[in-house]
Amino acid sequence: MTDNKNMRSYLLEDLGEEVILNVCVGSACHLKGSYDVINEFKKHIPELKLQSKVKLKGAFCLNNCTSAVSLRVNDFEVDKISSVEVREFLETLAEVKQWNT
Ligand code: FES
Repeated sequence: MTDNKNMRSYLLEDLGEEVILNVCVGSACHLKGSYDVINEFKKHIPELKLQSKVKLKGAFCLNNCTSAVSLRVNDFEVDKISSVEVREFLETLAEVKQWNT
């Protein structure tokens, strides 16, 4: 995954109020664990009370297969997210958006 600093700056660019997380479930991403990533999001979104802030969706090939598991946050690509990075990703997102979790 892009390091935290880079992620913050590009998430800050213009996410708007609604944040849609599209996790790729295409073949390459499936093989690299996209369902584990989705399960971690399903676990941590409620734990961090982000259900009203974040929508989780599955997407077919995001044309970034060499960086599986691909995640798109609104219009921004986040490369190579793994299941162990999901919680930190959500915490960083909440911090950047100044949501109280
Ligand atoms: S299969 Fe996930 S980006 Fe192509």
